[in-house]
Amino acid sequence: MSEATEATAATEGTSATGVAATAAALDAADELAPLRARFTLDDVVYLDGNSLGALPAHVADRMDDVVRRQWGSLRIRSWDESGWWTAPERIGDRIAPLVGAAPGQIVVGDSTSVNVFKALVAAVRMADGTGRDEILVDATTFPTDGYLAGSAARMTGRTLRPVAPAEVPEALSGRTAAVLLNHVDYRTGRLHDLPGLTAAVHAAGAVAVWDLCHSAGALPVGLDEHGVDLAVGCTYKYLNGGPGSPAYLYVRRDLQDRFDSPLPGWNSHAEPFGMRPDYEAAPGAVRGRVGTPDILSLLALEAALDVWDGVTVEAVRAKSLALTDFFLECVAAHVPRGAVECLTPLAHAERGSQVALRCRDAGEVMRRLVAGGVVGDFRPPDVLRFGFTPLYVGFADVERAARILGETLS
Ligand SMILES: Cc1ncc(COP(=O)(O)O)c(C=O)c1O
Repeated sequence: MSEATEATAATEGTSATGVAATAAALDAADELAPLRARFTLDDVVYLDGNSLGALPAHVADRMDDVVRRQWGSLRIRSWDESGWWTAPERIGDRIAPLVGAAPGQIVVGDSTSVNVFKALVAAVRMADGTGRDEILVDATTFPTDGYLAGSAARMTGRTLRPVAPAEVPEALSGRTAAVLLNHVDYRTGRLHDLPGLTAAVHAAGAVAVWDLCHSAGALPVGLDEHGVDLAVGCTYKYLNGGPGSPAYLYVRRDLQDRFDSPLPGWNSHAEPFGMRPDYEAAPGAVRGRVGTPDILSLLALEAALDVWDGVTVEAVRAKSLALTDFFLECVAAHVPRGAVECLTPLAHAERGSQVALRCRDAGEVMRRLVAGGVVGDFRPPDVLRFGFTPLYVGFADVERAARILGETLS
């Protein structure tokens, strides 16, 4: 039975009016529902937080202070007095509990792409002298990771081998230096087995690098618990940091002394203001920094992280699964049979916080959905992606999205 057929079978019998009543009951019982008021939203059903998270309502005022007082009035004094210089590590420590990391292991800065490059080259360099000549990369990866892995392989004289995540255990060998994997597939929403794959990579004596873009802020990651070596992620999706907000780099504490960055800028120097001609890496996660941090974006992100006050990732995950389960139920109730095929696994253990549906003319279908007040996105050639951010998406939103999808496809 295909996943699409299973989705229909699992939810058969639920009527269109039944799901509307269920939505109201689920919203009434939802303990996270009040968090929506922390965001600037309108009556559009926003299911694109897996691409760009919504604006936390207080960020604009905080940025007004950053721009007018910190920059406008204090000017250069703000590097010390407003804590600009230490922002990458300080904000890294704010992200740490959301990805299951103890403090002192995450720095924020640069894009995810740049951090993938830093992490992967550093991972391969950890294997220098061991004769390991191969890098494995997730064959289904978001393209940038694949491009950068190719460059990292050329630069370090290794061979790059694309492998589907499920096949990584068989592909590992004494030749493997490092493995670059995605926690959640950006296209299908499939959640990969981070604990199991990390253990397999370690059993082969290699280094595991994880891309957390589509999992951080949506589900527990457990970086420390599962012994992940290096990880990167963006902050503009489920962490709501804003367009182009800086990414982060996790370097497990006991690997930090061996982290040899391919981009050893002056910000990662042990004595950045010593202006020495020779490079000496700073101790700790700070050595993942490169150049002058993007302060305005960093501080917008720092403000945005306040929406997590009093919220646990476990509660977010429970609601995320309830939202995606309910969306599949509503799709079965509202969408004509056979009009869509679900690419996202039904098993909770294999599902991120999005649902990907394949259908004909998907680009045009998404254009009509957006015109009808339901914002998801389209990934060529035929995928509709719907992201569910539990901090601000409710069950009535989900029912409305499926209903309008059904009307669009009828
Ligand atoms: C899984 C994944 N990795 C990497 C990136 C690239 O991130 P950036 O544009 O911040 O370099 C994205 C962007 O959406 C992504 O989804």
